[in-house]
Amino acid sequence: MSFIPRALAPARTRLAGIVVAAPSSLFSSSIRLYSSSKSSFNPHDIHHLTHGPDHIQSKMPAKELLRNHHRFSEFDLEGRVYAITGGGRGLGLSMAEALVEAGAKVYCLDRLESPHPDFLVAQQRAKDDFGSSLEYIRIDVRDNAEVNDAFAAIAAKGERLDGLIAAAGINHLQSALEHSRQALDDVMSINYNGVFNSATAAARQMFKYQQKGSILLVASMSGLIANKGMTSPVYNSSKAAVIQLSRSLAMEWGRHGIRVNSLCPGHIITPMVDEVFKQNPAARATWEAENMLGRLAMPEEFRGSALFCLSDASSFMTGSTLLIDGGHTAW
Ligand SMILES: NC(=O)c1ccc[n+]([C@@H]2O[C@H](COP(=O)([O-])OP(=O)(O)OC[C@H]3O[C@@H](n4cnc5c(N)ncnc54)[C@H](O)[C@@H]3O)[C@@H](O)[C@H]2O)c1
Repeated sequence: MSFIPRALAPARTRLAGIVVAAPSSLFSSSIRLYSSSKSSFNPHDIHHLTHGPDHIQSKMPAKELLRNHHRFSEFDLEGRVYAITGGGRGLGLSMAEALVEAGAKVYCLDRLESPHPDFLVAQQRAKDDFGSSLEYIRIDVRDNAEVNDAFAAIAAKGERLDGLIAAAGINHLQSALEHSRQALDDVMSINYNGVFNSATAAARQMFKYQQKGSILLVASMSGLIANKGMTSPVYNSSKAAVIQLSRSLAMEWGRHGIRVNSLCPGHIITPMVDEVFKQNPAARATWEAENMLGRLAMPEEFRGSALFCLSDASSFMTGSTLLIDGGHTAW
């Protein structure tokens, strides 16, 4: 029989109540958070580290109550080391927070001169609350030598590298006939070459230290569909290339214990998407209408997929594409 601390019981009851007994209150809180017309959400304030009542984590029991060595140990990342490109903000930073919370040491690699202010808050929480660590290293994923050096330095510290999330990416909105060669090179060299550089640099360290690992390449549902409201032929095809790269690397490295998967998110409210809205304000309504949940995602809604893909919980998954898009592509 499993022991449930008494203090946990009310939280569980509340959780059950939200799902079973009070669907309308959940629905109205979702509307408050995500509705385009009524939301006061600032896309540059993306991580909600203040943990307001609507934050996804505030629905969880306090961490101390969850400490139980028998519970879902395959998600435990204690002692493990991960690198996340594009981890200076946005989706990459939210995923980094999830891995840190599971006990990992995480290195966020990004070209930003300094990471988003939320990074510093997350870094402090990593130390104070989770006994783990979050570090920032400035690199440009296009520079293969720099990427290899960074991964070698990270792995050398603990003589291990357990995984990578390759999230660095850029978008460029332009029709095919108007697309400049420069923009084409920029998008492909970051979204494809940069991901290739990062994945191979990570695998090199896993081979060097003879360990298994997990690599998650962040693609997009835009690698699977032509995305209404977003004219970005090069971005879309760069993401298709990332999906195919993940399968090819999975085949090459599977027998060595290195798993490679790709993630295809739908639309998430991040600074990248804010840029789209600036250029095409009608895009938001179009995307909400195309989505079965009638809303866009928040970055922290990908915490679970990051933890699943980077931990032993996904030990039999490789060469797969995880599509998390609020039903956008499922009509
Ligand atoms: N936001 C969405 O709706 C959405 C949907 C599907 C996929 N994605 C993908 O998710 C990933 C993260 O995007 P986001 O929405 O968080 O955007 P973002 O702009 O907030 O984050 C991207 C990060 O990548 C970094 N980066 C860009 N070029 C780099 C380079 N050359 N070297 C190192 N770092 C670099 C940026 O500085 C930034 O911090 C991207 O690959 C994006 O294509 C986003």
